[in-house]
Amino acid sequence: MSAELWRSAVRVLDTNWTGGHTVPSRTLNPHQWSWDTAFTAIGLAYVNPARAWRDLRTLFQTQWPDGRVPHIVFDPDVPEDAYFPGPAFWNMPAYAGRPAQGSTALVQPPVHALAAWEVYRHAAAHGADAVQQARTELGWLYPRLVAQQEYLGDRRDAGGGGLASIVHPWESGMGNSPAWDDALSAAPADLTLLPAGRRDPNLSDEEYARYLGLVRDYRDGGWSDTDLIGRHLFVVECPGFNAILATAELALAQIAGVLGRSGEASRHRKRAQVITAAITDRLWDPDTGFFHARDVRTGRLSPARSVSGLLPLMLPDLAAPQVAALLEELSSPRFGLPAPSYERTGPAFDTRGYWRGPVWINVNWLLRRGLLVHGRRREAEELSRRLVRLVHHHGHYENFQPEDGSGLGSPAFSWTAALCLDLLADRSAPAYARGSRG
Ligand code: GLC
Repeated sequence: MSAELWRSAVRVLDTNWTGGHTVPSRTLNPHQWSWDTAFTAIGLAYVNPARAWRDLRTLFQTQWPDGRVPHIVFDPDVPEDAYFPGPAFWNMPAYAGRPAQGSTALVQPPVHALAAWEVYRHAAAHGADAVQQARTELGWLYPRLVAQQEYLGDRRDAGGGGLASIVHPWESGMGNSPAWDDALSAAPADLTLLPAGRRDPNLSDEEYARYLGLVRDYRDGGWSDTDLIGRHLFVVECPGFNAILATAELALAQIAGVLGRSGEASRHRKRAQVITAAITDRLWDPDTGFFHARDVRTGRLSPARSVSGLLPLMLPDLAAPQVAALLEELSSPRFGLPAPSYERTGPAFDTRGYWRGPVWINVNWLLRRGLLVHGRRREAEELSRRLVRLVHHHGHYENFQPEDGSGLGSPAFSWTAALCLDLLADRSAPAYARGSRG
């Protein structure tokens, strides 16, 4: 099974390579997406590290002077009507040597430091030249990754509590998750913003109009992050986003070590601890025993239990009661492994609803890492086996129906294929993992 699966995964990645970047899928997403690029690089580390580095470089070449890395980089060769909202809607000015209309101004979870570390870690298997290239690329990326963290940790700390806020559901990477339903209801639904032809199959027209309205407002404010709470209608602290932000600091500590910057390495480790503490302080609800998204404008926690609230499991400094509660959640009827994107017993559960129920490989890959970080090797192995089986039986789909496993969305999706390669090949726990108990 694994040789065949391996070959099919490589084929998906080859098909989705454009020459300068990988698209998430040829059918639905014809441009470059930020966190997709990171997950794709993790798989390319095994079969084509040069392409992984090229993909990351293409993305980071579009980084803004303020440090933000755009969530979509538009391919100028793709016609405007191939994707909505496309370059014309974003109406980006030229910046940092980029042509006008080159990207969006939103971000996505910063998985890139982790991806760069993973590509570096596997370089030795490809020979001395690959190791040399990996060092060069790490050196190029490191200050850019640091700038990305500083943007998120500083300009996006709208709540002042040490966490990054997202200003749009798309920034979480989990666009239509029920975690945003409450906060999103504050944004008006201006139906005149809807495009004539294309609708998003995963959203009602009202929701879609709210999404577009938030982009328009952020755009009309010059994409500024000053006084977000006063000016912007969606300002939310997402547990998954911030868990990834902290994990990025741990990866940066490892990268700084390789680059001989040990002072910076300890600063990154300290930052990871501070973010971990802030996640617990601000997003943990002792009554539900779960991490929830916080609406920074109202101070309220979303009642939804989304998979994003399980991702703090990735953090080695998460306190024992929280670790125990998340592990219990993972084996409860609400989630189970592989975890759906939203609790199976919740009122908004929708088995075909994108981030409202289906299983996604990337978040499960992150959860597997969380299990390894906390010494749960046996559960991590079992999760790997189930994910691999799912993809083998159904294909490299974008996401999967959480009850029968059938594939949903694009059938040749890059991060599904890429992470499958990693699940097939890698059994190691992160260097900072706690002692094995699994
Ligand atoms: C969808 C997903 C997002 C992903 C993008 C490209 O918008 O919600 O996480 O990055 O597609 O694959």
